[in-house]
Amino acid sequence: MAASDVVYARAHAVAVVGVRGQVVGVEAHVGRGLPALLLTGLPGVAVQDARERVRPAVENSGLEWPLRRVTVNLTPADLRKEGPGFDLPIAVAVLAATGQVKGERLSRYALSGELSLRGSLLPTPGILAVAAASARDGLAGVVVPEANAAEAGLVEGIDVMGAPSLARALDFLRGTWSPSPAVAPAEPSSPAPVVDFAEVRGQGQARRALEVAAAGGHNVLLVGPPGAGKTMLARRLPTILPAMTREEALEVTLLHSVAGLLGPGRALATSRPFRAPHHSISAAGLLGGGSTVIRPGEVSLASQGVLFMDEVNEFRRDVLEGLRQPLEDGRVVIVRAAGAVEFPARFTLVAAANPCPCGFDGDARRRCGCLPHRVELYRQRLSGPLLDRMDIRLRVPRLSRAELMGSEPGEGSFPIRDRVEAARERQRARLHGPRCNAEMSGAEARRVAMLSTEAERVLGRAVERYGLTGRGFDRALKVARTIADLDGSDRIEPAHLLEALAFRGESDAPGETGVA
Ligand SMILES: Nc1ncnc2c1ncn2[C@@H]1O[C@H](COP(=O)(O)OP(=O)(O)O)[C@@H](O)[C@H]1O
Ligand SMILES: [Mg+2]
Repeated sequence: MAASDVVYARAHAVAVVGVRGQVVGVEAHVGRGLPALLLTGLPGVAVQDARERVRPAVENSGLEWPLRRVTVNLTPADLRKEGPGFDLPIAVAVLAATGQVKGERLSRYALSGELSLRGSLLPTPGILAVAAASARDGLAGVVVPEANAAEAGLVEGIDVMGAPSLARALDFLRGTWSPSPAVAPAEPSSPAPVVDFAEVRGQGQARRALEVAAAGGHNVLLVGPPGAGKTMLARRLPTILPAMTREEALEVTLLHSVAGLLGPGRALATSRPFRAPHHSISAAGLLGGGSTVIRPGEVSLASQGVLFMDEVNEFRRDVLEGLRQPLEDGRVVIVRAAGAVEFPARFTLVAAANPCPCGFDGDARRRCGCLPHRVELYRQRLSGPLLDRMDIRLRVPRLSRAELMGSEPGEGSFPIRDRVEAARERQRARLHGPRCNAEMSGAEARRVAMLSTEAERVLGRAVERYGLTGRGFDRALKVARTIADLDGSDRIEPAHLLEALAFRGESDAPGETGVA
């Protein structure tokens, strides 16, 4: 060994659990004994993997791996170290312990990144969480893979050094090379494919329902035969939701970063997410989890955007049951022996269902071939508690070719979004706590409803005529409140209430799709 007096060194790494990073120490000691690499200090599975990669990465970078007994210890000892970024700090700590790198930068920068066997730094999930933790801990900066530099650059107050390889990262730590500090790009490098409401022809009621849903944050159930345009409509809901605040955009970016879905060079998310998991998805896939590393599920990847559950009756029962917590709390908590991990999960749910197993119940041009009790069983698969969270329910008819061709292309997403923003502004001014009408409790809804005298009479009659339950009553009130907000009205007038009642479905009894 070149500098045989150096046997110990320390580097900073960041463990990422859920969406939260924590700065940890990586100590390396090079001692007597047969060549080996020992890793202690509660390394998680992904960190264990680093053991196999760092030596080839070091050797293929023109550096020297010590042919001695190397011990790497992660501190503090009681914290389980998860996260894919430990290759770089482990390699650097070992190189520092053998005198191949020194310098004060080692004590001021956190290091994170996965190494290839050739020694290049690969795009690594969770770098935004790494940068945020480093800033919180008062470090001067982070050294991360070049592909993740823009993402890390979203964190203010620290230097972000994007390096293409272990060799370059080392040069930076030695002070012999300096990349230009990363600046977060203002525009996304590859804008998402754009969809727009202008592409939807006809379907006036469904368009209106989605506008109301966006304005009040309401969940929606769409029932209709295949080809009715349910997917097409749901896909366009994110385009009429209010523009994201910076805080919301950071949350989306963070969640997609830890899930490894950000894509190289991408920084701040600019459009609201749309996630459409297949009905065969597992509970861990939808809600979050995993056997080794705990990853956010689809409910979290949809946070601040739209979760679309097509053929909602076909999802597994336990999966649907698991939706209750995120729908109620806007977050999921995953409990493990090692502790609980929490992810944000505040999304608008759009569920779609066929009216019956064959899909054509109620269709104008095609007969439904299902036996009545099969239809009943099919509808019962949607449980009461879940159905209860769908403020807006409607039938989407299948348009004939002639009807499609005959109807004008609709209004585009931008003017709709302007109305949605104005309605949200009215809600913000009125509500303290809930951010939108859908988040109000029943008691709150009754308190802020402001029904006109005439609207009260209409509501009273609706309770009798439709046998409206207490929950159905509260839902109608919330939706009517949103419709009045879209109308710029302080009071709920009869017309607002009648429109809301049209979105109530036919029944509030559990297990029915509740659509007239
Ligand atoms: N209202 C509509 N305006 C324009 N195209 C439509 C409309 N409804 C359906 N389509 C066309 O039919 C296709 C199938 O619609 P889709 O949304 O997949 O139906 P569903 O999800 O209800 O089965 C769409 O991709 C679109 O091309
Ligand atoms: Mg579809």
